[in-house]
Amino acid sequence: PASDTFLEALPKAELHVHLEGTLEPALKIILARRNGHPLQNMTEDEIRAGYSFHDLPSFLALYYEGVDLLQTEQDFYDLCYAYLKKVASQNVLYTEMFFDPQLHTRRGVAFGTVITGITRARKDAERDFGIRSQLVMCFIREMSAESAEETFTQALPYLSDIVGVGLDSDEKGNPPAKFANVFRRAREAGLHVTMHCDIDQENTHEHIRQALEDVGSERLDHGLNVLDRPELVAQARERHIPFTVCPFPNMVIRPGSNEKDIRALLDAGMTITINSDDPGYMHSVYMTEALKLARDGANLTPQEVVTISRNAFNAAWIGEAERQTYL
Ligand code: HPA
Ligand code: ZN
Repeated sequence: PASDTFLEALPKAELHVHLEGTLEPALKIILARRNGHPLQNMTEDEIRAGYSFHDLPSFLALYYEGVDLLQTEQDFYDLCYAYLKKVASQNVLYTEMFFDPQLHTRRGVAFGTVITGITRARKDAERDFGIRSQLVMCFIREMSAESAEETFTQALPYLSDIVGVGLDSDEKGNPPAKFANVFRRAREAGLHVTMHCDIDQENTHEHIRQALEDVGSERLDHGLNVLDRPELVAQARERHIPFTVCPFPNMVIRPGSNEKDIRALLDAGMTITINSDDPGYMHSVYMTEALKLARDGANLTPQEVVTISRNAFNAAWIGEAERQTYL
């Protein structure tokens, strides 16, 4: 239909995608062959058949299994280049990509191996497809604050390749305040700050409050539970906090969310963006497909879709001169 051409052609920016979550079954098989992993004997369909999750922990179990396939600098290059090539074909002009260095360093892959492969892919993809990208380093929230601090120290030689820091993985019992010191260090080093406040987590309202008031989060990744608390809504509105909404996990983890929550966020005056999250594990729902889910779920008008897409360029951590080239 004509409206899908509209979504395909729309200039897009993505602000919530985990690079490790873009690992598609086909690339998994290539990496498994390259690195002598038993998964090399499986087919793409067999791999996909194992992909079912219903909440954050069951998703993370799948995600962590896939992460182990990434070993060499070339593996990280191939992962990042494939994602950038794919979304460039969807007219994504700019993307801020999360990566999870601790999931690699804790199994003996050097920090430099991870970021060097990714950075090389970013450069090549910009040359080959014109797509611009930046990196946001996430801390793994079920790992210790000390581990996050060590990771930040490891990142110091590479800070020119990192625009911000985030917080992801298992939220239960791991509030933003646990990482207050490392986020302070990151802010002092001039990095931007965002964090996940995942859907329907224990103590979610306190986590959102801490993110906004105590640790200086400039955005909320997911953050849907803001809607339960008028005082959080008011604060997010006053500070123009962008929400990175991800329709695919919404649909799975909180059925009806795209119908109800997206409209409720708009009605409450929130600034929302639409994103993919982990397309390799989510039926290859990349940006165009994520926008479709949001539009069809919340009955967004074309004008609303345009506004939401522009929100992402406005919320991007880029200079004003670059922003003007997109708007
Ligand atoms: N939430 C928390 N951790 C994650 C996610 C997410 O959406 N994706 C990858 N790790
Ligand atoms: Zn996420």
